[in-house]
This record gives sequence, C-alpha cells and structure tokens, in this order.
Amino acid sequence: MEKVLEYIQNNKQRHLDELYDFLRIPSISSEEEHKQDVLRAANWLVQDFKRIGFENARIIDTPGHPLVYAEWNGAGNNAKTVLFYGHYDVQPVDPLELWETAPFEPFEKNGKVVARGSADDKGQLFVHLKAVEAYLKTKGKLPVNVKFIIEGEEEAAESHIDEFVEQNPELLKCDTVVVSDTEWFYYDMPSICYGLRGIAYFEMEVTGPNRDLHSGTFGGAVDNPINVLAWMITQMKDRYGRITIPGFYDDVLELTEEERNNFRKLPFDLDEYKKDLDIREVNGEIGYSTLERIWARPTFDVNGFKGGYIGDGQKTVLPSKASAKFSFRLVPNQKATDIANKVVNYITNLAPPTVKVKITPMGLANPVLVDPHSSAVESAIKALNQAFGKEVVFMREGGSIPVVETFTHVLKAPVVLMGLGLPDDNIHSPNESFSLDNFFGGIKASAIFINEFAK
Ligand code: BES
Ligand code: MN
Ligand code: MN
Repeated sequence: MEKVLEYIQNNKQRHLDELYDFLRIPSISSEEEHKQDVLRAANWLVQDFKRIGFENARIIDTPGHPLVYAEWNGAGNNAKTVLFYGHYDVQPVDPLELWETAPFEPFEKNGKVVARGSADDKGQLFVHLKAVEAYLKTKGKLPVNVKFIIEGEEEAAESHIDEFVEQNPELLKCDTVVVSDTEWFYYDMPSICYGLRGIAYFEMEVTGPNRDLHSGTFGGAVDNPINVLAWMITQMKDRYGRITIPGFYDDVLELTEEERNNFRKLPFDLDEYKKDLDIREVNGEIGYSTLERIWARPTFDVNGFKGGYIGDGQKTVLPSKASAKFSFRLVPNQKATDIANKVVNYITNLAPPTVKVKITPMGLANPVLVDPHSSAVESAIKALNQAFGKEVVFMREGGSIPVVETFTHVLKAPVVLMGLGLPDDNIHSPNESFSLDNFFGGIKASAIFINEFAK
C-alpha cells in the first residue's frame, strides 16, 4: 500500500496534466455538432486504459454515443470484483459570456481546476483510473478484479446504458459498484450519498387556432394556447408544492424519524442558503425541512416555456401555439413509468376541447436508495476518512444518476456513491470547477478503498 500511495504522491503533476487533456475535449452529448468530440473523449479514455495496462479496453457502440468498457481480471476467480461507473459526457456551456475563462481550456484558480466537466464527471471518474494505474505500475497487480463502464449519454435526453446493463449482467457481474458523481455536504466533509431522486421529464405542446390572431378581434372568444398551457401547469401542484395528480404519492416512502434526525444534525444554515440565492423565503411542502424537500420529497418544475411575442415593444397577438418542458423529481419507491402514465392521463383529461394538447414523455429514471451498511460502504468510509483525515457524513441528493437504480436491480450488488464534488463546483453552470485537493485525495481514497474492499 505504501508504494501505491507514494506513486500517487510522485505523479500528481502528470495526473493533473492528463486530466487537463481529457477536459480539453468538448464532449457535449446533447449537441449534435459535438458528436465527434464525444467519440474523441471515448477514444481518449480507451487510450488511457491501454497506457495503464488494460489490454481489452474498448469502445462499445450504442444507437447513440458509445460506452467505454475496460476490465482487469488478474486477481483471479476467488478475488472480489469492483465495477466503476462514470460519465465522460458533459453539459452544454451556455451562457458562454458568464464564463471567466474558456470552458474547454482548463485553468487553475484558488486551488480548483475550472473547466466544463471538471467535477461532472470527468475529474471524478478519472480518479479511479489513476488509483488503478498506481497499483498496476508499482505492483503489476491489484488485490481485486476491476471493471469500468463509462457512458457518454448521462447528460443527454436519451441514453442506452440501461439497456446494455440489462442485456449484459454477466459481463458486468461484480461485488460492488463504485460511482463518484455526487457532492460532499460541505468543505472538509467527505460524504457518502445513499439516495438519489429519479426523474420523469415531459414536453407538452398546446395548439389553438390554425394561425396567429389579432387579440382584439378574437380575444375572449377563442382560447389562447399560452393561457391554457399556463393554467394546466398550475393544476399540477398547489401553492406549497404538493402535487395534485391523483395517485402521485401512492408509492412515496416516508422518511423515518431516525433519518429526519440525521438530516437535522447536518450543518445546514437556512439563512445562508437564502442569502446565497438572494431570496427572502424558501417554498415547499408544508411540514418538511429544506433538506427533506430536496432529498426525500418529489417535486414538479417547469424547465422551459415557449410561445407568443417576446420581441421589442408590444404586439397584440393571440398565438396559435405554446409549448413547455417540465419534469417531476421522484423519490423511493415511485416508478418513473407509473408516474409517466399518471401524468399523461391527468393532462389528457385536463385538456379543454378548445385546444389540441400533445404530451411526450422524455427521459425517465427511477429513484434509488443504496444500502448504507454494506461492506463496500464500510470500506469507502475508511478510505475517505484516511485519505482526507476527516469524519465521513451520510447524505442524500436531489439530483439523479439514472443508471444507478438499474445497477441495483440488475447486478444486485451494493452501490457506493463516493462523490468528490463540492457544493460550490458550479456543475451545469458557468465556471464549473473541481477541487485539486479532492482530485488528489480522491485518487488516494480510491486506492485505499480497493485495498480495504479486498480484505
Ligand atoms: N452528477 C449529476 C447528478 C448529481 C448532481 C448528483 C448533483 C449529485 C449532486 C448528473 O450528471 C446529472 O446532472 N444528472 C441529471 C440527470 C438527468 C439529465 C436525467 C440531473 O439530475 O438532472
Ligand atoms: Mn454527473
Ligand atoms: Mn450532470
């Protein structure tokens, strides 16, 4: 173990240089013009796996962006197997003008590397490649078998990894799945996440008259698609965020008193939170704290709204069309497909005969809770604790990583959500960054995890 940690210490600069190369590739999965860049990032990973000593690293094609797969089975049949997951695709960069430096020219500032994808998820996933490298380059072997499955569609509307996992349980067979794609609760608080929300995303289009009309000569007699769309949206939840769709809460797992107490022990400062966001009050379901609302309660949010005239001055138009994108965050034990059906039924019944309404479900992902007491989690606690010299806390997250629930039900191996992000990393926002301490510490933690889990 000492040799491995010494290697990690001695190769810091090179590891960082490599991460910079990886970050320079604009692998934005949702933008068609970056399709080749996404492929380039996949190939870059394959090359790095080969440098490390994986002979069989390869691209796996899907109908969308490819998966990257690599495995090392030198520890033999009696040894345990760790499957690492991450995503090499990144979010779009807009609004570009709010970036202080170019998103794909990594830049070091205040102990962090600033670049799109630095925290979400290239920096976090790269940690595990470098930990494995440290073993192979010093000892020529690892105490466990390792597999990597890295996707290029986590941030895209459509992804194919779930299908691949369902069809290849033997290939991915393992004793634990390690995912670093979440955040710490706060600086100096290494965290294990044990719950992710799911999501059900929709697009809805409302069409009224066959053409734009004068709002004076038709207004009041012909229904306006923007008004109708806005009205339908207000029918989805009450003023306090309680969703009004019949049966929506049927499968919601209530928090236990123990869990609520654990949440209360975390140093969350509501005043700071409001100050940071420049809002006077928060809003959400009555009877739940802010952390409970984010981590353990479902929500409905409109993500985009389109229609009518928004140019200079005024135009008295009654538009022909309006559309919106909206999503529900889901919590255990809700099922995304069940919610999608309920939403579509509700909207269909709600739609007045004055307009045509088209609702299309988009990305669906199930929520997940992972076992917080598995031996893999025990190993992760030791690893984070030793690597960072701090107490480890448990938390949940409001975000989603769709494939995690698929891993739990198909592979039936415990998942460890050993995230390394910080709350101020600005993921999905301008000036995304990743702490260098967390990058280097994360490599150590991954190496210690491997050693602990092998025992
Ligand atoms: N890594 C994030 C999820 C996340 C964010 C976990 C913050 C913990 C803290 C992931 O890449 C992500 O952005 N997921 C999307 C999924 C969606 C596109 C289906 C999300 O949550 O919006
Ligand atoms: Mn991510
Ligand atoms: Mn993301």
